[in-house]
Amino acid sequence: TARATATGPWDGLRVLVTAGGTREPIDAVRFVGNRSSGRMGFAVASAAAALGADVTVLAANVALGRDPRVTYVDVSSAADLEAACAEHFPGCHVLVMSAAVADFRPVDPAEVKLKKTGRDELTITMEPTPDILTGLAAGRRPGQTLVGFAAETGEGAVAYGRDKLVRKRLDAVVVNDVAQAGIGFDTPDNEVTIVTAAGEEHVARRGKDEVAAAILRTVDALRSASATPLG
Ligand code: CTP
Ligand code: CA
Repeated sequence: TARATATGPWDGLRVLVTAGGTREPIDAVRFVGNRSSGRMGFAVASAAAALGADVTVLAANVALGRDPRVTYVDVSSAADLEAACAEHFPGCHVLVMSAAVADFRPVDPAEVKLKKTGRDELTITMEPTPDILTGLAAGRRPGQTLVGFAAETGEGAVAYGRDKLVRKRLDAVVVNDVAQAGIGFDTPDNEVTIVTAAGEEHVARRGKDEVAAAILRTVDALRSASATPLG
């Protein structure tokens, strides 16, 4: 089949991005969710596509415009996202895990809509979800670059991010302080610190497109440092 000619420095690079926030069903119509809009992940995907990469986004409940250069796969729950990652991760060179994955989900969601009649209270029992990124990193092959995100609040954010870098065996962690007004979840701007084994880069408040570009520069630097051939 016809294929576009080489267009940029990332031509031939396969990039997998997870974006948005998972929804964990409580019953047939309700869920436990979070405030992630998917903007940061979508910005990373478009920036990578602009460099010529072959980009797939696993989109968890994202209501944003889509880039014609990018392939999107819609998922909803953490379990859906885990299954989609299992399918798409082995073939990628770069994973950017920006999705906000629920840490807990209701045990045995009801298949019908729960009724309020006759109840004074409602207790929902939750169980932990699998840590998708930790599982992927444990099974990675040489030449894959893994970038995680860390949504933290307040002091110690960067230290928590560095802890995730080590604990999850990642190449980079993008730390954002989600408690700051006007940045992080569901906003057009972000302010992050990119943590790698080599050090830390603070990216002062700017549009998510520019933050995405900074993240991709870090990926480039990591990949040139390890002189990874495309495979
Ligand atoms: N992540 C994941 N699977 C989960 C939870 C998180 O893959 N079940 C990923 C996120 O996509 C992110 C990274 O792990 O890239 C860190 O997520 P974060 O919520 O900041 O950290 P947690 O390890 O879940 O710890 P905590 O929420 O308690 O800070
Ligand atoms: Ca979490």
